[in-house]
Amino acid sequence: MTRKLFVTTALPYANAAFHIGHMMEYIQADIWVRFQRMQHDMDENGSGQPRVVHFVGADDTHGTPIMIAAEKEGVTPQEFVAKIAAGRAQYLDGFHIAFDNWYSTDSPENVDLSQGIYRRLRDAGLIYTKTVDRFYDTAKGMFLADRNIKGECPVCHAKDQYGDNCEVCGAAYQPTELINPYSVFTGSTPILKPSEQYFFKLSDPRCFQFLKEWLNTPGRLQPEMVNKVSEWLGENGEKLADWDISRDAPYFGIPIPDAPGKFFYVWLDAPVGYLASLKNYFEKKGLDYDAFLKDPGAEQVHFIGKDIVSFHLLFWPAMLNFSGHPIIDKLKVNVHGHLTVNNEKMSKSRGTGISPLRYLDLKMNPEWLRYYLAFKLNSKVEDLDFTGEDFVARVNSDLIGKYVNIASRCAGFIAKKFDGKLASTLSDNAKEWIARALNGEVNGAHGERQASIAANFEAREFGKALREIMEIADVANRYVDENKPWILAKDDTRIAELHDVCTAALILFRQLTILLSPVLPHVAARVQEFLGDAGFTWADTTGAAVYETMLGRTIGAYSHLMQRVDAKMVEDLFDKPAPVAAPIVAAPAAATAAPAEAGEAPEAGDIEELAPEISIDDFTKIDLRVAKIVNCEHVEGSSKLLRLTLDVGEGRYRNVFSGIKSAYQPEQLIGKLTVMVANLAPRKMKFGVSEGMVLCASAKDEKSNPGLYVLEPVSGAQPGMRIR
Ligand code: 2FM
Ligand code: ZN
Repeated sequence: MTRKLFVTTALPYANAAFHIGHMMEYIQADIWVRFQRMQHDMDENGSGQPRVVHFVGADDTHGTPIMIAAEKEGVTPQEFVAKIAAGRAQYLDGFHIAFDNWYSTDSPENVDLSQGIYRRLRDAGLIYTKTVDRFYDTAKGMFLADRNIKGECPVCHAKDQYGDNCEVCGAAYQPTELINPYSVFTGSTPILKPSEQYFFKLSDPRCFQFLKEWLNTPGRLQPEMVNKVSEWLGENGEKLADWDISRDAPYFGIPIPDAPGKFFYVWLDAPVGYLASLKNYFEKKGLDYDAFLKDPGAEQVHFIGKDIVSFHLLFWPAMLNFSGHPIIDKLKVNVHGHLTVNNEKMSKSRGTGISPLRYLDLKMNPEWLRYYLAFKLNSKVEDLDFTGEDFVARVNSDLIGKYVNIASRCAGFIAKKFDGKLASTLSDNAKEWIARALNGEVNGAHGERQASIAANFEAREFGKALREIMEIADVANRYVDENKPWILAKDDTRIAELHDVCTAALILFRQLTILLSPVLPHVAARVQEFLGDAGFTWADTTGAAVYETMLGRTIGAYSHLMQRVDAKMVEDLFDKPAPVAAPIVAAPAAATAAPAEAGEAPEAGDIEELAPEISIDDFTKIDLRVAKIVNCEHVEGSSKLLRLTLDVGEGRYRNVFSGIKSAYQPEQLIGKLTVMVANLAPRKMKFGVSEGMVLCASAKDEKSNPGLYVLEPVSGAQPGMRIR
C-alpha cells in the first residue's frame, strides 16, 4: 500500500521573525520529508509506487499578543500578520526547506474547520459553559489575560509580577490573588466581572479511555513522551482538567458559533491550522481533501518542540477523535528538544543568539547547518547543542575532508584523460571495494548498509544514518589513497587503471550523494547535473542502479561543490552582546579581586532592564536596615516560605516571612547579617504577620536560572544601620 504522509511543523506565532530554533525543527522535518519522497511503496500488485508526501506549514496568527502588537503599530491584526508572513520565504528558501504550502490560521478554511470541529464536540456532549469571574480593564474595555495583569506577589511581595506566577519567588497563583493588581495596558485597577466561558470536557471518562489507548499504541510516540503524558492522565483520568477554550471580545480570533462576543482561544484553532493548510493546498492542486483523510494509506505526522506537548498530546488528539477525524489512528507526534548554544539557552544579550538571516548574509552555506544539525539529531526528546568549534570541525572533516574530497580527487582525470567518459567495465578489485564500502558490517552482520541507513532516517536517527554514510566515505577514501590516481596519471602504461579507479571512486561518490540527498538537497541537485542523472531515489542505492548505469557514461565538468567553513565566519555569526548603560559611579578598583585593565569595559550580562529613573527622595522613602537573622525556621504548610526572626537594633525582634525556602536551609542563615526593608507596612499572611521584607538578588530569567541570593553586608556592619 502506498503511504500518503501529511507532515507538519509547529505553526509559528506571526509576531516575530524565525529564530534558529524554528530552523532546526523545519530542517529536521524537511530531511525526513525528503527521505520519504525518495521511497517507493509496493502496491497490491507488487509494483513500486512513489511515496506521497504533503508537507505543510502556516502562521499561527490569533490571540491577544498579536492583537496588541498590531494596535501598537497602528495597523490591523491582518496587516500585521501579513507583514510577518511576507518575511517567511527568505528563511525557508534560504535553508532549502521545501514546504508544499505555507498558509495562515486566519483563513476561511480554518474558520470552517475549527467551527465544524467545535460543533461536533458540542454535539458529542463535550462542551459546556460556566460563568467565572475574570479581570476586566474598564478603561480599555477588555477582559485581561493572565499576562496582561501585574501586581504584587502574594507570597514574597515582589512588585510588578504577572498574573500567573512570580518571577522573583517562583510562586504560581491565580491572577485574583495578586495584591494591588493593575492592567498592563492602562495601569488602572481591573474589576472582577463575571463572564460565561466555554469549556472542553477533557475530564469526561471517554477522553481518558481514548487518550490512554491512543498514547499506548506502539510506535506512535517516543517512550519518554508516553511516560510523561501518562502521568498527566493519572491512573483513572482523575488528573485531566477541563479546558477553557473561549475568550471574550475584543479578541483576534475565530468566533464561537452561536455565542456572540466569544472567540476560540488561540490554542484551539492553531492546530486546526494544520488541516486548513492541507485543505488549502489540496484545493489549489485539485486534490480531494476528504478522500485523503479516509485513505487507508494516509498518515498524519507532526513535528513539535517539547514545550508544546500538552496541546498536541492531550487536547489535539481528543479534539480530533471526538469530532470524527478519519485518520486519527494514523496520527503521530514527533517531539524534539531545544537548541542550546554552548550548552546554554540562547541569549541575545549574552552573545549566544544565532540569527538565521545573519548566517545567510555571511554567505555561510545552509547545507553546513543542515548537515551539522542532522548529525546531532536523534529520535529522543533531547536538547541539541550548537558549538562553534564543533560545527567547524564536523563540517570540514565530514563534508569537505571525506565526501567532496572523493570527487575533487578523481573527477578531473575523467575530464582530462578520458573526455569525460567513465570506464565501460570495472576490474574485480574495483567491484570488491565498492561492495566493501556499501555492504560493510551492519549490526555485526554483513549486510546492505543502505537498508540500515534508510531505517535510521525513517526513525529520525539522523546522526546514526550520517555516521554510517561517513563509514562508506571512509572506505572510498581509503580506496583512493591506496590506488593513488595522481601517481597513475603520470604513467601512460597505467591509464586503464586510472580509468578504473576514478570510475569506481565516482560510483561511490554518487552513492554517497544519493544517501546524503535528504540532508544536502542542493549539492545533490548539482551532482545530478554533473553526473547526468535525472533524479535520485532510494532504489538507486541497490542492484544495477549502483554502478551498471554508470559504466560508459559521459559525465559533465566537475566544479567544486562546497567550501570549507572559515572559523572567522562562525565568530561573526553570533549576536554581539547588547551594550549596557555605564555605571553611574565607578566601582573602586581595590574592591575587585582581579582588577580589569584600564579602559576595559566589563562584559555585559543578561540583566533585567533597569527600572525607570527615580529621585533621591523616592529612594529615601525606603528605609533599608542591616538586620541580624537570630532565628530561621520552616513554616508548616508552606512549600515556599521560611520564617525569619530579625534583630534590627530596635530592642525587639521582627517576624518576617520570606519566599526563599527553595534556596536555603534555615541553619545556613541563622547568625548571618542581611538587609531588610524596615518601613514596609506589616502584612497579614496565612501564617502570621510579616513585618518587613528581606532583600534577595535573582536573575532576570528566574525560571532557567533559579538562583536566589539573600543580601549580606561586608563584615563590620551592625544590626540597625541604615543603608543610604
Ligand atoms: O508555540 C508556538 O509557537 C505555537 N504558535 C505553536 C502552535 S503549533 C500548532 F498547534 F499550530
Ligand atoms: Zn513572589
